[in-house]
Amino acid sequence: MTFTDKLALVTGGSSGIGLAIARELAQQGAKVIITGRDPQKLDRAARKIGSGVSAHVVDVAKVADIERLFEAIRSEHGRLDIVVPNAGGTKPAILGSITEQHVDETLATNVKGVLFTVQGALPLMQGGGSIVVIGSASSISPPVGMGVYGAAKAAVRNLVRCWIQEIRGSGVRINVVSPGPTRTPGLDAFVRADQAEAVFASMAEQSTVGRIGEPEDIARAVAFLASDAAGNINGVELFVDGGITQI
Ligand SMILES: NC(=O)c1ccc[n+]([C@@H]2O[C@H](COP(=O)([O-])OP(=O)(O)OC[C@H]3O[C@@H](n4cnc5c(N)ncnc54)[C@H](OP(=O)(O)O)[C@@H]3O)[C@@H](O)[C@H]2O)c1
Repeated sequence: MTFTDKLALVTGGSSGIGLAIARELAQQGAKVIITGRDPQKLDRAARKIGSGVSAHVVDVAKVADIERLFEAIRSEHGRLDIVVPNAGGTKPAILGSITEQHVDETLATNVKGVLFTVQGALPLMQGGGSIVVIGSASSISPPVGMGVYGAAKAAVRNLVRCWIQEIRGSGVRINVVSPGPTRTPGLDAFVRADQAEAVFASMAEQSTVGRIGEPEDIARAVAFLASDAAGNINGVELFVDGGITQI
């Protein structure tokens, strides 16, 4: 299997895209560490992923939580091979209704959380490895209400372009996988239950492949970029969005 003897960290691995990534890496032989804020969600996810998984309660908006996580990984394993900063999300807010709290929370989870996850992981990746950050098609074409979130995801793309120069020669690659609309509890929360069918049908229509994304679509792209098959790919943003950002 591709990731035999590899140790992978997936933040936000208790739901949706992160859970699918954790399962994919585990199925390909990796030992997986998942994080999230809700311990019960983490327990349920760990059971779905199966043996070899460990779970840590971490709020990525809190740097102290992230530092505690890496201290635990350092003392237990001493290394990391694959890191997927995936924890993220937002609530919609349109111009005129945007609050300071909305900006602070969105940037803390989607930018600060990614930054301190990558910075904390790198000292544990002395043997090389792969970091795959989860961005969003909103970094290119943010829908109404997703301006701050889209800006946060665009910031992540720019950070990665800088970081690959700053860690040149380390043996660590960093890439971004940016999903389009993907069926997860996170996406479901945006849509009123009585309108869900129509909204998801319209999203499928916008896609050039005629369907909405599934978490496994993202997981397979992450697994590819994390693997040695992608050894000469660094700093790219790979959109897994049915082509919506390309038209
Ligand atoms: N689904 C889509 O259509 C879509 C499209 C583009 C990009 N994305 C991106 O894909 C990633 C995953 O989204 P998803 O749709 O799978 O969402 P989801 O189903 O809501 O799952 C989000 C995961 O992140 C964790 N999380 C959220 N905030 C956190 C925080 N502050 N600290 C630690 N963990 C946190 C959640 O656990 P807790 O709630 O327990 O903390 C959960 O495990 C996000 O970065 C999102 O922006 C999703």
